[in-house]
Amino acid sequence: MRLSVIGCGYLGAVHAACMAKLGHDVVGIDVDSAKVASLGAGEPPFFEPGLAELLTEALESGRLQFSTDIADAAGSAVHFIAVGTPQKRTENGADLSHVAASVDALLPHLREGDVVVGKSTVPVGTARGLSTRITEACPSVTLAWNPEFLREGYAIKDTLEPDRLVYGLDDANSGAQLILDEVYAQALADGRPRLVMDYETAELVKVSANAFLATKISFINAMAEVCEATGADVSLLADAIGHDDRIGRRFLNAGLGFGGGCLPKDIRAFMARAGELGADQALTFLREVDSINMRRRSRMVDLAREVCGGSLLGQRIAVLGLAFKPNSDDVRDSPALSVAAQLQLQGAAVTAIDPQAVPNAARRFPDLAYATSVQEAVQNADAVLVLTEWEEYRTLNPEDLAGLVARPAIVDGRNCLDATAWRDAGWTYRALGRPKAAAGSAAAAAADARLIGEARPRVAAEPRA
Ligand code: UGA
Repeated sequence: MRLSVIGCGYLGAVHAACMAKLGHDVVGIDVDSAKVASLGAGEPPFFEPGLAELLTEALESGRLQFSTDIADAAGSAVHFIAVGTPQKRTENGADLSHVAASVDALLPHLREGDVVVGKSTVPVGTARGLSTRITEACPSVTLAWNPEFLREGYAIKDTLEPDRLVYGLDDANSGAQLILDEVYAQALADGRPRLVMDYETAELVKVSANAFLATKISFINAMAEVCEATGADVSLLADAIGHDDRIGRRFLNAGLGFGGGCLPKDIRAFMARAGELGADQALTFLREVDSINMRRRSRMVDLAREVCGGSLLGQRIAVLGLAFKPNSDDVRDSPALSVAAQLQLQGAAVTAIDPQAVPNAARRFPDLAYATSVQEAVQNADAVLVLTEWEEYRTLNPEDLAGLVARPAIVDGRNCLDATAWRDAGWTYRALGRPKAAAGSAAAAAADARLIGEARPRVAAEPRA
């Protein structure tokens, strides 16, 4: 089939390349000429494992092209709308201007029988409005809403092997269903579930899935707060409750909480939309989910201050990890970057590193120092913070690092390190939601107490309340 994909960000670029991989003829369209040039050269403008190879393969097959000219969408039977819906600058609601602009730009190029397929995450009610707009201009064109559930870092797999396909359709457009079945013939042949529903439910499936995931993470982080107050261990707690199939262990990793371009803005837009619909009470719990999540970042700064002996002034802090999660260079609303910036603002001298996200982080926070190796980042550090659980940080050797730092103190912001191994190597190990020292380990507790007690501010003491 001939397909166009309007919007070539994380979602659109991956979707376009995957559709070409499936044998379709695809044109990806974006207003950003630099992005189009780089995608056309087989170089993704962001880090996504496997995407460079997939783009190259698809471009070489001749089935994938990129363009800045929306007129190149003409002739495609299906037009995917995959543009961004970021949070508005001063409000919680989603900014739909890119969706509206891309549909308007597409209208003059639509042909009889074309199907426009929305993939962007939008507030419930958007599809019905767009459908009216499209059918007024082009009566034989139909709109389907087909939300996407891909995760950054696994975007290709999630697109080619989706957990489920969701088609939001208007009552009368069964033709669109057949066309979507043709687009996704491979996934359907593989037995992937396909759920057909109305527009509103399809829009809600997307945001409620993200709201559920955010709630699950904040639930375990709330338990982490209680654990901190009692000396209990949230990792053990998560393991234990996760064995119950009804709860499940996935997305129960306590730590710095969620960030990125989706979960935070989606729950806020969801609350804003519920308010407009008079259903705000139903989602007030999401405000708490958001607050618990943001509190984790402040708690991390507090923990760093604690291991530095009560003040961050002049303390040299090594930050390992800046991306909002591993296998990504995305720093949008990244908890790691937010903590690094707060530490610096509170007087610490931060040296940060990330396997992929340094250029994006440096654009946002040029004042942080950025290292090119872990060894360089931790040199003479008073505290080392692991804020994104990249494999290479999870597997660091505590003995190797101990000789480089000024003070062997590590704060595990993602509960991803082996606490015993670090403590056995002489480090003070602290983590969110976990006790200061493993139960029964008096030596480790003494080491923690001694090291924290010894820590002294390097420049001047902060005024104490
Ligand atoms: C999320 C959803 O998982 C996807 O299903 C959805 O399609 C996507 O948003 C979207 O709406 O486009 P993504 O933003 O790539 O995907 O990231 P996640 O893997 O969901 O992680 C989100 C954040 O939660 C990260 O900061 C991660 O570190 C954090 N997290 C995740 C935790 O703090 N604990 C966990 O147990 C899991």
